[in-house]
This record gives sequence, C-alpha cells and structure tokens, in this order.
Amino acid sequence: MISIVQATERDCQSIADIGKTAVEESHRGSSSVEVMTEFLERNYNPEAIREELHDSHNIYYIIQYNGESAGFSKIVLNDSHPDIGVANVTKLDRIYLRKEFYGQKLGLQLLNFNINLAKDNGQSGMWLYAWIGNNRAIDFYRKAGFMVIGSHNYYVTETHFDVSHRMFLSFSER
Ligand SMILES: CC(C)(COP(=O)(O)OP(=O)(O)OC[C@H]1O[C@@H](n2cnc3c(N)ncnc32)[C@H](O)[C@@H]1OP(=O)(O)O)[C@@H](O)C(=O)NCCC(=O)NCCS
Repeated sequence: MISIVQATERDCQSIADIGKTAVEESHRGSSSVEVMTEFLERNYNPEAIREELHDSHNIYYIIQYNGESAGFSKIVLNDSHPDIGVANVTKLDRIYLRKEFYGQKLGLQLLNFNINLAKDNGQSGMWLYAWIGNNRAIDFYRKAGFMVIGSHNYYVTETHFDVSHRMFLSFSER
C-alpha cells in the first residue's frame, strides 16, 4: 500500500536520516569523506530540515510504503533559471528514497506526483541538478523525459564543487 503525503514537523528526523544515507550512497566518490561529512551534517540534521519545512516555498512530500516512510521529495514552484527563459518552472530540489526501496518504481510515482502538482499550479516544466557521476538518477530522469540542457558547478562546501548536469522536462512535450 503506497501513499504520498505532505511532510510535517513530525517527519524532520526521518527526512534527515533518509537524505543523509541516500546522498552519501549516491554521491560516493564525488568528494572526500571530510567534504561529504561537512555537507551532510550541515544540511541533513532535523533542525536544518525543520527550517526548510517552515519556508512555505519548499514543498516536501513523503512516500510511504505500508505506513513506513520510504522516501521524500522537495520542489519549489516558480523557481526559474536563466537557461530556461520562462518564469513558471519548478525546481526539483531533492528526491531521495531508502535504499531498500530503489528500483521498485516508488521514485517514479513520487516524481509523477510532483509533476502533476506542478502542472496543477500552472507550471510549464521542471528542472534539476544531477551530479554527473550519479548514473542511477540520470537514467531515472532521462526515462522520465528530462534532457540535459547545461552544466553547473554545484558548491557542496565553500571550496568543493560537484560538476552537475542541469536537466529539464518541458510539460508541453509530455
Ligand atoms: C533516483 C531514485 C529517486 C530513483 O527511484 P527508483 O524508485 O529507484 O527508480 P524506479 O524504480 O522508479 O526506476 C525508474 C528507472 O530508473 C532507472 N534505474 C533504476 N535502477 C537503476 C540502476 N540500478 N542503475 C541505473 N538506472 C536505474 C531505470 O532507468 C529505471 O527504469 P526501468 O526499471 O524501466 O529500467 C532512487 O533510486 C534514489 O533515491 N536514489 C538515491 C538518491 C538520488 O540519487 N536522488 C537523486 C539526486 S539528483
């Protein structure tokens, strides 16, 4: 039984735990252990997530499998990028599952949910960054119709960046 529900303060710990593990696993090799640890401790602790949830621009959803949190997503509506040229596009900022749920189409269900939510809010497309070494995620986005439209140096800390694809899905072609 799968359900997708809006995240609340009660989900802070679980979002932090899922994010920490999934980022570490999917970005292994992108930076040193020290850089990764600094990034994860700063961004994936319950207090940081609580602050994120308090910002009404951030739309977090949890995907549950038999009542257990299997993953989460974060989108920001009307978050344009100069390369895209239209204002009404959504940034998919985070989508992370627990490892035991990979490959079971839960990611696809959560992505499609967010695409429909964005469309219902008058958006014309969705974009994201994906580290060039994260093949599973890049394949996943390509299968869903996203195209690489540019490259971006994503600063993980003040001194280290990951070279990332900028990917875009136009809703008019779907
Ligand atoms: C990326 C992620 C959200 C995808 O969710 P998922 O539920 O595992 O993906 P799905 O089961 O919906 O699979 C959809 C497609 O992804 C791709 N995919 C799945 N497993 C893969 C693997 N091991 N290697 C390469 N591609 C894979 C396939 O193209 C698959 O389609 P197919 O089953 O028809 O071949 C999930 O794996 C995840 O949380 N990964 C770690 C965190 C992460 O990298 N997030 C994105 C940051 S940019």
